[in-house]
Amino acid sequence: MPALVLSAALRGVEAALVRVEVDVSAGLPNFTTVGLPDSAVRESRERVKTAIRNSQFPFPGDRVTVNLSPADVRKEGTSFDLPIALGILKAIGSVKDGLVGRFAVVGELGLDGEIQAVRGTLAVGLACRRRGITTLLVPHDNAAEAAAVEGLRVLPAATLRDAVSLLNGERLPEPAAAAPPAAPSGDDVDFSDVRGQAHAKRALEIAAAGNHNVFLVGPPGAGKTMLARRLAAILPTLARDETIEVSTIWSVAGLLAPGGGLMTAPPFRAPHHTISVSGLIGGGSPPHPGEVTLAHRGVLFLDELPEFQQHVLESLRQPLEDGRVAIARASGIGNFPARFLLVAAANPCRRGCPSLERCLCTPAERNRYLGRISRPLLDRIDLQVELPALEAVEFQGNGVSTTSAAVRARVLAARARQRDRLEGTGITLNAEMSPRQLRRLCPVAPEAARLLAAAMTRLGLSARGHDRALRVARTIADLAGAATIAAEHCAEAVQYRGLDRAWRT
Ligand SMILES: Nc1ncnc2c1ncn2[C@@H]1O[C@H](COP(=O)(O)OP(=O)(O)O)[C@@H](O)[C@H]1O
Ligand SMILES: [Mg+2]
Repeated sequence: MPALVLSAALRGVEAALVRVEVDVSAGLPNFTTVGLPDSAVRESRERVKTAIRNSQFPFPGDRVTVNLSPADVRKEGTSFDLPIALGILKAIGSVKDGLVGRFAVVGELGLDGEIQAVRGTLAVGLACRRRGITTLLVPHDNAAEAAAVEGLRVLPAATLRDAVSLLNGERLPEPAAAAPPAAPSGDDVDFSDVRGQAHAKRALEIAAAGNHNVFLVGPPGAGKTMLARRLAAILPTLARDETIEVSTIWSVAGLLAPGGGLMTAPPFRAPHHTISVSGLIGGGSPPHPGEVTLAHRGVLFLDELPEFQQHVLESLRQPLEDGRVAIARASGIGNFPARFLLVAAANPCRRGCPSLERCLCTPAERNRYLGRISRPLLDRIDLQVELPALEAVEFQGNGVSTTSAAVRARVLAARARQRDRLEGTGITLNAEMSPRQLRRLCPVAPEAARLLAAAMTRLGLSARGHDRALRVARTIADLAGAATIAAEHCAEAVQYRGLDRAWRT
């Protein structure tokens, strides 16, 4: 009878349970692993053997065969070390089943028998709960993360000996508690640090309220980067289910702080413009989540947008439209969540001239520069704002600006109105409304509809562009506490459209 230990393999941003079966039989000393293991899992043989010996357990001088099943789930990484070691020790009688109930194990082993943290324990915990597994044995540093799964008993272990004494009932299990939520970051930056730029600040407030994408265009030093980085300070913290969703992604990507709590603040990702398509969208084999997925339920900031490679920018269209990315896998197409708020920033021309009047670039050069951002991509950015040079702003004096806390309070109120209106639809934000939901749930005053129709002709808006402007108008009305979309809301919404036309001829 082979010994059996349950573990889990990561699959995209989820985990699937894996049976680790160990058979020790008479024969020439040999140690083989079968069942679609990647090279890191195959290398685990050496770590497991050395860790077992250095923990003063006997390593069998026989044929050891480890089978990871189901065989069609790709097993990657180092988290099978501990379950394999425990399986071997179980097969030779050094480990008994002292734990009550069904349990699973993940963990990497150091040569000295120490258990090291692994990626994705939160996803593993969720998989365990789905499959009725009551106990999960994890590395110490992953305990707080896994313990966030309600109804799962999480047992931390520091060394192989430690894990064995737990399983043998020689040590009383001390279940881990969920870590307190991580302190929200960005407390040192505030919206009021930014002088002037009232127009851009207003656009960011609308963006935060309804989750609309923003494009900030202005000369170098106008405060584009500064403003974008302050967006996080006006966004609401994540709801409980969003916290689990986002933390699972970050856990799988190995980005959660060891021993730390879950992600309660919306993520903020700012990849460099040299990023590749697979870095941005995800991919590879096995597929890993890209920046769009790491920014799920948060902000994706693309600074210097025209500097990104064009095919990289085009790859954003699908996630912007669907809130997901489809990743081709050996076993078919998989999906990664990617519902983020896009904030893009750009100088209006390659030389970074201070204004259109003082621009040294030729019209052709200017067209080429912003023209790198395709029309379909630009169509998906609802709020396009032009920032004046800071010199101009400085003349406006040093009035007291609104703080992040004040803006955030307005954002929260506008979001509460959206949630009420969208009750029962499965979405909570204006930007996510389908065209049908928009028609059904958002009354528009007749003069507002006329204004929007006129703007459609003047700006050459497509039907999609029309709906996008209407969603923004809905958010503006929510910030104003209005039940019906009025002309003034539409008028403000359309002025955030077609900005690039000023700089492109
Ligand atoms: N509106 C502003 N209010 C206060 N300081 C500003 C403003 N704009 C720019 N600055 C100052 O200039 C620096 C550069 O601004 P930055 O946001 O990087 O400009 P941009 O991204 O538009 O080129 C900031 O770190 C800040 O010190
Ligand atoms: Mg900048």
